[in-house]
Amino acid sequence: MRYSPRMSGHGRHAGNGTPAFDERQLRDALAQFATGVTIICAPRGAGDRYVGFTANSFTSVSLAPPLIAWTLSNRSSSLSAFETAERYAVNVLGTAQVELARRFSRPHADRFENVPFRLGWSDAPLIEGCIAWFECRHHALSKVRRTSASSAHERNGFGPATGLPRKFR
Ligand SMILES: Cc1cc2nc3c(=O)[nH]c(=O)nc-3n(C[C@H](O)[C@H](O)[C@H](O)COP(=O)(O)O)c2cc1C
Repeated sequence: MRYSPRMSGHGRHAGNGTPAFDERQLRDALAQFATGVTIICAPRGAGDRYVGFTANSFTSVSLAPPLIAWTLSNRSSSLSAFETAERYAVNVLGTAQVELARRFSRPHADRFENVPFRLGWSDAPLIEGCIAWFECRHHALSKVRRTSASSAHERNGFGPATGLPRKFR
C-alpha cells in the first residue's frame, strides 16, 4: 500500500521528537513534487580537473538580482571543490539526458569521460546538449546540519529552449 499522509497522521510526531514517518515514506511524498534535473559543475585544483553532480535541488530565487540556490550533501566528495571554487556552472538536462543524470549521481572513475563540454567564464564544464545553463558566482554558502546550501549570482544564462526538461519525481 502506498503511503498516504492523511492515513498515517500527517505532521504528527511520535511524542518524543521522532517524525511519524520513515525515510521511504518521506521520499515517496517528496517525489510527488516534480522538479527538473541539473548537473552542477566546478573546476577542481590540480589533477582531477572538474567535479560535477546530479542535482534536483536547484531553484530560482530572484530575477533582480539574478539569484539561484541549491543544496549539496556534506558527505559529497565534491563539497570541498565547491567550497574553494569561486565560480561554477549549472547545466539543465533535457529529456534525452537520463544517462548523464545517472552517471553524475553514482561513483565513476571519471564522470566527464566522453562527455562533450566547453568551458566558459566559470571555467566549469558547460555540457553539450543541455537545454540551458547558468554560470554563477557564490553569493553565500552555509552549512545546515547534513547539507550545504549555496545561493549564487548568475553571471551568464543561456536557454535555447530546444528541448523539454528532464523531470525527476
Ligand atoms: C535526480 C537526482 C537528484 C539529486 N539531487 C541532489 C541534490 O540536489 N543535492 C545532493 O546533495 N545530492 C543530490 N543527488 C545525489 C547526488 O547526485 C550524488 O549523491 C552525488 O553525485 C554523489 O557524488 P559526489 O560525492 O561526487 O557528489 C541527486 C541524485 C539524483 C539521481
